Order: sequence, then structure tokens, then C-alpha cells
Amino acid sequence: MKSKALLLKIFLLVLILAIIYILTNHAESNKDEIKANHVKESLPLHEVMTSNKPLPTQQKIPTKQPLPSQQKMTIKQPLPSQQKMTIKQPLPKIYAIVTMPLLTKKDLQTKKYRTSTIEKIEERMSEFITGLQNTLNHECVYRVHFLYNESNVVDYVKARVKINTTKLVFNRVEDPRKHVTYFDFAYEKLQGEIAMYTPIDVYPGEGFRLINKDDLISKKLMYILTRHGKQEKNCDMGNISNNCNRKRYFGSHDSYIFVPNGPLSPEIRKALDYWSIVWGQENIAIHTFRTLGHFKVTNPCEVLFVYHIHCSNLRDSTRYRINTSANSGMAPPTNTLT
Ligand SMILES: *[C@@H]1O[C@H](CO)[C@@H](O)[C@H](O)[C@H]1NC(C)=O
Ligand SMILES: *[C@@H]1O[C@H](CO)[C@@H](O)[C@H](O)[C@H]1NC(C)=O
Ligand SMILES: *[C@@H]1O[C@H](CO)[C@@H](O)[C@H](O)[C@H]1NC(C)=O
Ligand SMILES: *[C@@H]1O[C@H](CO)[C@@H](O)[C@H](O)[C@H]1NC(C)=O
Repeated sequence: MKSKALLLKIFLLVLILAIIYILTNHAESNKDEIKANHVKESLPLHEVMTSNKPLPTQQKIPTKQPLPSQQKMTIKQPLPSQQKMTIKQPLPKIYAIVTMPLLTKKDLQTKKYRTSTIEKIEERMSEFITGLQNTLNHECVYRVHFLYNESNVVDYVKARVKINTTKLVFNRVEDPRKHVTYFDFAYEKLQGEIAMYTPIDVYPGEGFRLINKDDLISKKLMYILTRHGKQEKNCDMGNISNNCNRKRYFGSHDSYIFVPNGPLSPEIRKALDYWSIVWGQENIAIHTFRTLGHFKVTNPCEVLFVYHIHCSNLRDSTRYRINTSANSGMAPPTNTLT
């Protein structure tokens, strides 16, 4: 009788243990399910697919590691250089200054264009618009200040420029053809900003993200760039004369980049008081900004590309050269910005 009772007790104990075992195992597998559901919500698709596999208990370990997205957010160490390159630097904000004449068939009666045709004049005007539109579309160009003194050119431009027009601002000035006008405008209206005077048929291309305003200010830099050429709609400008190729450079420059800071001295203003299209004005400007302006004037056209469009070949035939040996500066092509 006694041994029967003992057997029954042992049997009941085993039964209870078995029930406890089953119950706890069930709870464990529930936990796994909860984890798996949680993983489904927060993992990218390829991770979800692996977590859908039956989850043996060991698989809990990988899901406990920080998820890729969490890792990114919590890293405080300096990032490896590869990652640095993908971080977006703010783009330099360039305030371009441009102008253009309105050429019409009337100009065929002037000495300047007497030997030309209306087709050439129209082609030239369309090059001006293309140059302006390309400048407006450049990612580093924040504003384009268009200088004019007669409203018919404004109407002409407004009727033809259709893209990125919010960047385009028209400014009335006394004489948009004088070189000094661009610098007067920059020093009056663009103090502390990156100013770029560029002829209307020369537009910015590659390299402009590298422009550093702090360097321009602290090192008092002025870039006076020599142009490049490339395939344009109507011709290949890739082989133009006076380009940035070191062998072809002989003193011709096109676009100016600088930060106006403080006043523009009367001596500098006087030296720039010429028509901008005369030959050698840029050589006088290089000399003047070096000697009177105390700028470090360089020509990093091998890293900052500006492109010239002049397929029409229409030129003012009355241009003359104004620089002398006493006031000429040169800045041969370089590849360094500082
Ligand atoms: C307008 O200018 C932006 C740069 O500021 C450029 O990314 C965009 O392509 C331009 N729009 C067109 C249609 O070219
Ligand atoms: C605009 O400037 C040109 C010279 O660049 C001059 O001939 C013309 O008279 C000026 N027009 C006005 C309205 O001032
Ligand atoms: C580039 O210009 C040079 C000199 O004017 C000429 O000899 C050469 O054929 C031109 N090359 C092309 C591709 O037009
Ligand atoms: C005027 O500038 C050009 C470069 O554009 C240069 O070759 C020439 O020697 C300069 N003229 C004088 C007289 O120095």
C-alpha cells in the first residue's frame, strides 16, 4: 500500500514537471515570435526575408546587433574618408554679373558691323541668350545680375530666357559697357559675397564647387580666368585661340571671381574706366588689382572651367588695344586655387 502511494506521488511529480517544461518552452517560442514581428517592422526588406526563416533560438543573437540604420545615427567617431566625400558641402553662392548689347539690323549701318549680315547678328544674339541661360542653370550660380541702361534689351531677354528666371535680376546702371561698371556694382551691391563678372558669351562649367569664400577673403584672391571651348550646338569651340591651354595662352582672360570687401579706390576705378570689349583691358585689370588693390591675382583655369560660345564669328571690327608695357599684367594658367 505504502509503495503504491509512493509510486503515485512520483508519477504526479513527473507529470507536474512535464507540464511546467511544456509551458515554459511555449512561452520561449512566443517571445521569438514577438521578436520576429518586431524585426519585420524595422528591418529593410532583405533582412525581413531572412528573419522569416524558422527562428532557432540562436538566431536571436544576430537580430540583437544594432541595425544598420541605427548604427549610422549613433556613430560619433570621425567618419572614414569615403563617407566624408558623400557628405553634402553647401555649394558656393556665386553672384554673377553680366550685360549684353541689343544688336539689330540697324547695327549693320555702323562701322562696327558694316560687313556683316542680319543672319549673323541674329545668331550672335542667340549666342548671348544661350550663354546667359547656361550661366543661370549653373548649380553654383545663385543670382545673375543683368546690368542694362536701356529697357529694350530687358524686354528682349525676358522674352527669350525661360528657365531659372527666379535667379535673374535686372539692374539699371549708367553705362553697362564700361569695365568699371561691373566692379562698381560688385562693390556697392555684393559686399562679402562671391562676385563673378563674366562676358555674356562665357559661361561657368566644371570646378566651381571648389571655390571657397573664406579663402578668397582671407588670402585676398582674385581669379581672372582664361576660357575653354567645347562642342556647342552650332560649332566646335574646342580649338579656339586664346584658351586655357598653357601653350596657347598669351594673355587673354575672360571671367573675374572675387569677394568685394571694403571700398573700391578711385585709382582702381580710373584704371578700369574703359570699354570692356577693348583688347588688353584684362591685362590692365590684372596689373591694377595686383599693384593698387593688393590682390593675389591668379588664373586657375585648369580647375575652374569657363566656356566661350562664339560660333557666329561676328565681331565689332573697331576694337583696339589699350594696354601698354607700363600697365600690363599676365596670369598664366595654373591648377591651384590658393
Ligand atoms: C536651374 O538651375 C539649377 C541649379 O541651380 C539646375 O540644377 C537646374 O538644372 C536648372 N534647370 C534647368 C532646367 O536646367
Ligand atoms: C547707354 O549706354 C550707351 C553706351 O554704353 C550710350 O550710348 C547710351 O546713350 C546709354 N543710354 C542711356 C539711356 O543712357
Ligand atoms: C586646331 O587648330 C590648329 C591650329 O589652328 C589646327 O592645325 C588643327 O587642325 C585644329 N584642330 C581641330 C581638331 O580642329
Ligand atoms: C598687352 O597685353 C598682351 C596680352 O593680352 C600682351 O601680350 C602685350 O605684350 C601687352 N602689350 C604691351 C605693350 O605690353
